[in-house]
Amino acid sequence: MMTDRALVKTPAPARLRCIGCGALADQAALDFRCPHCGDLFEVFFPAWQTPAGRRALSPAALKATWLERRTSERPEDTSGVWRFRELLPPLAEGQTPITLREGNTPLYEMPGCARIAGVDFLQAKHQGMNPTSSFKDTGMTTAASFARQEGFRWVACASTGNTSASMAAYAARGRMRSLVLIPEGKISWGKLSQALDYGAVTCQLRTDFDGCVRVLNQVVCRMPVYLLNSVNPYRLEGQKTAAVELLEQLNWEPPDHLIVPGGNLGNSSALGKALLEMKELGLIAHLPRLSVIQAEGANPFVRALREHAGKTLIPMQAETRATAIRIGNPASWKKAFRVIHATEGAVEQVGEVEIAQAKQEIGADGVGCEPASAVTLAGLKKLVKQGFVLRKDKVVLVLTGHVLKDPEFTLQFHRGDLFTGTQHERESAALRNLQHAPLILDANVEAVVETLKRFEQADSLV
Ligand code: F0G
Repeated sequence: MMTDRALVKTPAPARLRCIGCGALADQAALDFRCPHCGDLFEVFFPAWQTPAGRRALSPAALKATWLERRTSERPEDTSGVWRFRELLPPLAEGQTPITLREGNTPLYEMPGCARIAGVDFLQAKHQGMNPTSSFKDTGMTTAASFARQEGFRWVACASTGNTSASMAAYAARGRMRSLVLIPEGKISWGKLSQALDYGAVTCQLRTDFDGCVRVLNQVVCRMPVYLLNSVNPYRLEGQKTAAVELLEQLNWEPPDHLIVPGGNLGNSSALGKALLEMKELGLIAHLPRLSVIQAEGANPFVRALREHAGKTLIPMQAETRATAIRIGNPASWKKAFRVIHATEGAVEQVGEVEIAQAKQEIGADGVGCEPASAVTLAGLKKLVKQGFVLRKDKVVLVLTGHVLKDPEFTLQFHRGDLFTGTQHERESAALRNLQHAPLILDANVEAVVETLKRFEQADSLV
């Protein structure tokens, strides 16, 4: 149900366009669905369609401006999102963004992982190095700023953990209240504890993520709360800047492949939108292929492409220890499909043991990430074996969350009981030599020295 009070305005140079029927709008109902066909909106910049509008955005001038802002101390310049504000829907005159200096994340070389995957050069863009330790902050700064501009007192999201942590932080920073709906017992303590400290009203519902989304969609039709799930197109605008920042770090030389985990599919859609826009504006000469990796137990998008040629997505009951991507009915699948198609990327799925192994391998490069992010390396290994990624190709993995986001997973892995009592128990035996469980010793020097000697001897045999 849409009512007149349920309107969110869009600033002039940016409009909303429905990805289903193409309807244009300057405001959306609180559920961010098209009133004509119920599909999702995307932000669209009419001026970019005209030669004069494109001339105003000269690639060389944009690149120089963005570089110059790196030495500025203005809040909108220290943000790694708003620094690229020419590509974002603008806030109204006199409004300032809610920012925690998000973005500005490192691009790491991953030599150990490159060797393991069979490519010459591999890098990881670590979005887990954001203020609340996941990529969600880059979208939250934009969408929360629009929520405050529109005068909302409450913001809300359904989440597998990271969105809630991020939303709660930006709401607190912007002096708004926040409502979090999370699946009971299915998110890590690391994420839940953040939402609590940032002061969110946190409800653990006896359902999964998809059930939380269903409930929240009804809540926003009844109460004036601003929806901060990734159906909100302003979130994706912020998230897209990670790709712009990446290309700047690569001196505007696109990699051959960008590999992204897929859950609700907002992030792959956002990064893909940025790639297409950068190409359209002449900021890059060619498109990287964007590939999406899902967990086998939460693979509705993989199935939609393999079994239904990308025309339909059949929701499923999702199950994976990579809880951040434990999603059976992804909202943004049509947007993600367009990106895969336009960039000629691939979709792939990986098993639970493959995810655990890849996570440890990313850790062994001194980087680390949460389980959902590790699907990227596990997926890359498969894409190399299939010949889709060539040894000489330049590849960038998008690591979406920090290693401390899910410490239970990591401890169980190293103690060797991550898969105890599951169907993966036998397969996981092969991971034993990657485990580094803590050793419990007597408090004397001999015990520690003996241990060191044992490890030295083992190392010398390798
Ligand atoms: N990686 C991490 C660490 C995530 O938290 C998520 C999603 C994804 C990948 C998948 O991104 O949904 O845009 O395809 N987390 C959500 C949440 C859904 O509620 O925090 P996506």
